[in-house]
Amino acid sequence: MSRAVVFWEYGDPDVLRVVDVESPTPGPGEVRVRVRAAGVQPFDTNFRAGRLDWARARFPQRLGTEVAGVVDAVGPDVAGLAVGDEVLGAVSGGYADHVLARPDHLARKPADMPWAEAGGLAASGRTAVYVLRQLDVGAGDTLLVHAAAGGVGSMAVQVARARGAAVIGTASPRNHDHLTSLGATPVAYGDGLVERVRAVAPAGVDAALDAAGTEEAARASLELVGDQQRVVTIVGDSPAERLGIRMVSAQPTEEMLAELVDLYETGRLRVSVYRTFPLDRAADAHREVEARHVRGKVVLLTD
Ligand SMILES: NC(=O)c1ccc[n+]([C@@H]2O[C@H](COP(=O)([O-])OP(=O)(O)OC[C@H]3O[C@@H](n4cnc5c(N)ncnc54)[C@H](OP(=O)(O)O)[C@@H]3O)[C@@H](O)[C@H]2O)c1
Repeated sequence: MSRAVVFWEYGDPDVLRVVDVESPTPGPGEVRVRVRAAGVQPFDTNFRAGRLDWARARFPQRLGTEVAGVVDAVGPDVAGLAVGDEVLGAVSGGYADHVLARPDHLARKPADMPWAEAGGLAASGRTAVYVLRQLDVGAGDTLLVHAAAGGVGSMAVQVARARGAAVIGTASPRNHDHLTSLGATPVAYGDGLVERVRAVAPAGVDAALDAAGTEEAARASLELVGDQQRVVTIVGDSPAERLGIRMVSAQPTEEMLAELVDLYETGRLRVSVYRTFPLDRAADAHREVEARHVRGKVVLLTD
């Protein structure tokens, strides 16, 4: 047997329950992962609350799209992975002791990478890589990231820095040291944002990523970046979309995980774990994410 977090109805975090389930058996082209850590993100909380028109639950519904763990069973027709391999990557239903995964959605976990960090890498990391490709961010660019201290923002800052861009990140003052440590110039959001950004980027801003979803972030981006093609939001149904800013839904590909792992192994990326919770406190983890002031990632641990 194995534990999994499920919900039977949309609602507040208390709809989440830990139940005993049969350990799944991997089919052709699948492996089973003994989950050690599972990242929690706004998608999960929005899905649980029934806020997403485009993602309908099938009750009892499981949650969790990113994990790290150990392969403990291998289905037919799987090459390149064996029982005992430590992996990280994208799954469906990762808030659990065991989850099935496709090998092409996994990467090998760096040996020295702590489980909590590994569990929080895939979803936000691949979103950051995808969005920066859409914005074509590279050396010589100055990128503005709104909500830079969050899960996606913290990754986007580091990936953009690794590509040679200068980064300005918005966050509340309590997170400014965090942004500096990631290589960004921190700026407080709130009244006067445009002037504060101009003060630290006198040569201008070339591109902007809105991960905040506020009207302030949208308007500031349009005012600061001349080319509207180089402004995107990742927040659906947000003021940015209503102001004509392109909404990007990440469509991750296999090689993005490899890129992120390489950045980690070469010391150019780290996963900031804000808080961890045991699996049976998934509801508390959701409350933390819904408070919208996470610094980096919230992660569930199974042991
Ligand atoms: N389109 C896609 O494919 C996609 C993929 C992933 C995520 N998303 C969406 O992208 C958004 C960000 O995701 P995430 O995982 O990074 O969220 P997150 O980790 O929950 O973001 C938390 C961060 O938001 C910051 N924040 C709160 N209010 C702010 C404001 N008014 N202005 C600027 N920053 C503010 C906080 O900074 P302070 O504590 O310093 O205030 C905190 O660090 C979410 O809406 C999520 O649903 C979309």
